[in-house]
Amino acid sequence: MVVCFKERADLVGMININGIVRGPYQRGVLGYAAFLPYAGRGYMSTGVALAVHYAFDQLRLHRVEADIQPGNTASLRLVRQLGFRKEGVSPGFIKIDGVWCDHERWAITREMELPHVR
Ligand SMILES: CC(C)(COP(=O)(O)OP(=O)(O)OC[C@H]1O[C@@H](n2cnc3c(N)ncnc32)[C@H](O)[C@@H]1OP(=O)(O)O)[C@@H](O)C(=O)NCCC(=O)NCCS
Repeated sequence: MVVCFKERADLVGMININGIVRGPYQRGVLGYAAFLPYAGRGYMSTGVALAVHYAFDQLRLHRVEADIQPGNTASLRLVRQLGFRKEGVSPGFIKIDGVWCDHERWAITREMELPHVR
């Protein structure tokens, strides 16, 4: 998915829902990034909130996850303010630039309060 303005074609960022598993899981994992010059203005919070609603309402998922490096302040703030909860930390979870990095595991499920779309 791309995040863009309703009024004009400028792209604000991108959002993926990866690794969708059906059956008894009904889960997916978010990936997202803001594009300059629109980072840090709240647009990605709106975009990710819309993606969470899409995941539950259209894709009928039960759980949406985000795996975030502990030092990624912007991403941690984003999911926290959207109502995700931290479920734990997985050591050496994802290999980035040749290094296995720890990641915090955040998630939101259908039973939780869904994010406001600002
Ligand atoms: C994570 C990312 C998508 C957030 O996008 P964004 O445009 O900053 O999102 P928003 O503007 O909606 O901001 C989200 C919150 O983070 C805050 N924030 C933004 N940049 C920040 C920074 N560098 N340090 C601390 N907080 C920051 C914002 O102020 C906002 O919080 P607030 O509303 O309480 O003030 C963006 O930083 C990014 O693309 N990072 C690189 C890719 C990445 O890390 N993706 C996620 C992988 S898990």
